[in-house]
Amino acid sequence: MSANPVSPVGQSFSRVDGRLKVTGAAKYAAEFNLLGLAHAYAVESPISKGKITAVDVSAAERAPGVLAILTHLNTPKLKEATSDMAGGGGIRVEERNPLSDNVVSYGGQHVALAVAETFEQARHAARLIRLTYAAEPPALTGEDAPGTRKQPKENNGDPIQVKKGDVAAALRAAGGTRVDVTYGTPTETHNPIEPAATVAHWTADDRLVLFDATQYVKGTQAIVAETFNVPKENVRIINPFVGGGFGAKGPTWPHTLLAAAAARVVRRPVKLPLTRSSMFTTCGHRTPTVQHVALAAGAEDGRLRAIRHDTECLTSPLGFFVESCGATTSNVLYDSPAIEFGHVVHTVNKGQSSFMRAPGEAPGTFAVESAMDELAVALRMDPVQLRLVNYAERHPVQDRPWSTKFLRDAYRVGAEKFGWARRNPEPRSMREGNLLVGMGMATATYPGYKLAANARLRLSADGSVVGQSATHDLGTGAYTAFTQITAEAVGVPMEMARFELGNSDLPYSAVAGGSSSTATVGHAIHNAAKALHAKLGALAVLDPASPLRGLNPQTIGLVAPGRIGVKGDAAKSDGFKELMARAGKDSLEADGAFMPATKNEHDAGPTFQSFGAQFVEVRIDPDLPRVQVSRVVSVMDCGRIINPKTARSQIMGGVIMGLGMALTEETVYDRATGLPVTRNLADYHVPVNADVISVEPFFVGEPDHEFNPMGARGVGEIGITGVAAAVANAVFHATGKRVRDLPITPDKLLV
Ligand code: MOS
Repeated sequence: MSANPVSPVGQSFSRVDGRLKVTGAAKYAAEFNLLGLAHAYAVESPISKGKITAVDVSAAERAPGVLAILTHLNTPKLKEATSDMAGGGGIRVEERNPLSDNVVSYGGQHVALAVAETFEQARHAARLIRLTYAAEPPALTGEDAPGTRKQPKENNGDPIQVKKGDVAAALRAAGGTRVDVTYGTPTETHNPIEPAATVAHWTADDRLVLFDATQYVKGTQAIVAETFNVPKENVRIINPFVGGGFGAKGPTWPHTLLAAAAARVVRRPVKLPLTRSSMFTTCGHRTPTVQHVALAAGAEDGRLRAIRHDTECLTSPLGFFVESCGATTSNVLYDSPAIEFGHVVHTVNKGQSSFMRAPGEAPGTFAVESAMDELAVALRMDPVQLRLVNYAERHPVQDRPWSTKFLRDAYRVGAEKFGWARRNPEPRSMREGNLLVGMGMATATYPGYKLAANARLRLSADGSVVGQSATHDLGTGAYTAFTQITAEAVGVPMEMARFELGNSDLPYSAVAGGSSSTATVGHAIHNAAKALHAKLGALAVLDPASPLRGLNPQTIGLVAPGRIGVKGDAAKSDGFKELMARAGKDSLEADGAFMPATKNEHDAGPTFQSFGAQFVEVRIDPDLPRVQVSRVVSVMDCGRIINPKTARSQIMGGVIMGLGMALTEETVYDRATGLPVTRNLADYHVPVNADVISVEPFFVGEPDHEFNPMGARGVGEIGITGVAAAVANAVFHATGKRVRDLPITPDKLLV
C-alpha cells in the first residue's frame, strides 16, 4: 500500500514518547498544578444501601484550610447527561450525578466532598464530616436480588440472546459425548498504574478546562458540557498521557463531574485524584460471572453438535452493563449446527460494573475454552486437534465469510514454538524433579472494531508533517503507531513525522476502546493524506514550472517518498518541498474522516475478527500447590502489525493480565458492609515480575486490507483472551484437578 521504499509501517520503533516518560517530562492529569489550585477529597459511603438522614459539616467547615464542604444538600443541581457512544457523544455507565440526592446505592459511593488549600487539609476535613445513615440490607449477589433479573436483547447493537438450530434436541440425543458444567469468574478490578484523576478549572463562567485521565477526551467533553449546560466548544479536555486504562477510563465517572462542580463552587481550579482504594468502587470493574456451558460432540469424530452458553452477571442500581460472554465467544469460535447463547443481568448494591479489557471475551473464553478442554479429555482427543476438527471456516452463527483468518497457522506455529508434541496427554504424567508439569492451550479471539475519527495533517515547507486527532495513547504505543502511519501515508521519513493527540481541541476521535484506535484513526490519517496529495496535485497542475502542469489532477498521487506524480511515469513527478517553495506556501493542511460502516453495509460485508492461540506450561509442587506459569507462547493473527516491538508489548501485557485473572485477581466483598476488602495492590494481587517467567508473543497472518488501508486489526485486548483457560487446562493436565472458578488459588488444588 505504500510508495515508501522503506515503509515505516511494519518496522519496530521504540516509543517516540519514551524519552519523555523515562525522564518524567510526560505530564499525567494529576500533575497539572495550576496557579491557585485547591485540593478535593471525597467521602465514600460506608453502607451499601440506604439513605443519608442527617448531615453535620460544622467541624469540617471549621477545619484548617477548608474552602468548601459539598454534600447533597448544597451541591449545585446539574443536568443528567446522556450516554451516546454510538452518536459520537460520551459514555456514562454510572448514570447518576454525584451528590444529587440522599440515596446510597452502593458501598463506596461518593457522599460528600471536602475542598481545601492542600490535599492533607482536604483529607482531614473529609474525616470530620458527620453523616447519619438509615441503612438497609444490601443485595450483593444475584440470589440476594430476586426480581431484578433482566435479559437484554442487545448489547451495543449486537443481539445477545441467540439461537441457531435445535440445541436442546442435540443435547438430549442419544450417543455422542457431552460436557455440561458451570464456570465462575470473580469481580476483577482494573489497576492502571495511574489512578483516575481530574483537575478542573473554570476560566470564565461558561468556560471550563479539565485535565482528566480519560480514554475519551471528546466523550468527556460532551458529557461535561451537557452536565454543566455550556457549549461543547467551551469545554476543553486535555490528556496527553494516560498511565493505563484497560477500560476504566472510557466512561465518564462521577469524580470528573464532582471536580468540575467543586471548582465552580470555590471559583478556583480543583484537583480530585481518586485513591487506589476508590478505584475499586467508583471507577468500574469487571462483573463476576456464572457461565453454564453445555457441549455435545460426536464420540468418534469430535465434531460439535451443539454449543450452549448462558451467562449471569451483575450491574448496579445506577446504570446498566452486561458482560457479553457468549455473544463474544460461542458466537464466533467453532462450527456447530446448533449454537445458543443468552445473558442474564441482576442488579446489586455494588459499584457499577463496566468495560474491562476484552469485556465478554476474557471471562467468556475462560468458560468455553475450559469446556473444550473438558470435551477433549472426554473424547480422548488432542485439544488442538479438537479445535481443528471444529474450525469455523465462516462465521458460525451469521454464516458470513471472515475478511481474513489465519487461526490454523496460529495453532501450528504455537504448537511448534511451544513444543506441544512433547506433551503426554495423561494428567499427572509429566514431572520435572518433584514438580508436576502441565501443558494447556486455548483459543484467543477479539473482533476487529472500527469507530469514527477525523484526522488533520499539516505539511511544512521543510518536508515535515504533523498529524492530529483527539485520540489517546494509554501507554500502548499509539503515539508511535500514528507517527508511523502518518509518515507512510503522507510519504515522509519517520523522523519528519510527528503526531499530536490527547486534547479535545483536535479533530474528533472516538473512545480509545475496543482495540479500535489504530484501525480507526489510521484510516482517517490515510484519508487525510489522500486529501493532502490532492492539494499538492492541484498546485502542481497549475504550476508552469511543474512537470505535472496541465495534467488531470485525478491521475496524480503519491509515487515516492516526498513526491507526487503519475504512477509508472518517472518523468512526471514533483517534490513536496519544490512544489511548496514555488507556490510560496509555508504549510499545507488537509483533513480526512473515517466513518464506520452502517449496519446494512456491515452485514453485507465480511466479518472482521482476530484469532490466536495461547499455549501455557505450569509447574506445581504437589505438596504446596502454588501454580507457577513457567512459559507462555502466544500466537496472534491481527492482520498487519504496524510496529512489532510495541505490538509484542501489547500482547505480552494482555497475557500477563490473563495470568492475574487465572491465578490471583479477585475483588472480595465483605458480606456485612458490601464494601470491597481487597482494595489495594497488597490485597488485590496483580502479577509482578517474579510471576512472569517467560511470555513469548508471535504474529501470523496477512494484512487485512478489506478492514483498512493499513491492513491492521487491533492488538490491545486479544492478548488477555484464552489465557485463563489455557492456565486452567494446564493445571488440569498437571494435577488431574479441574478448577472451574477463578482465580486458581492453592486451596482449590488441595484435595
Ligand atoms: Mo477497552 S475495555 O474497550 O477500554
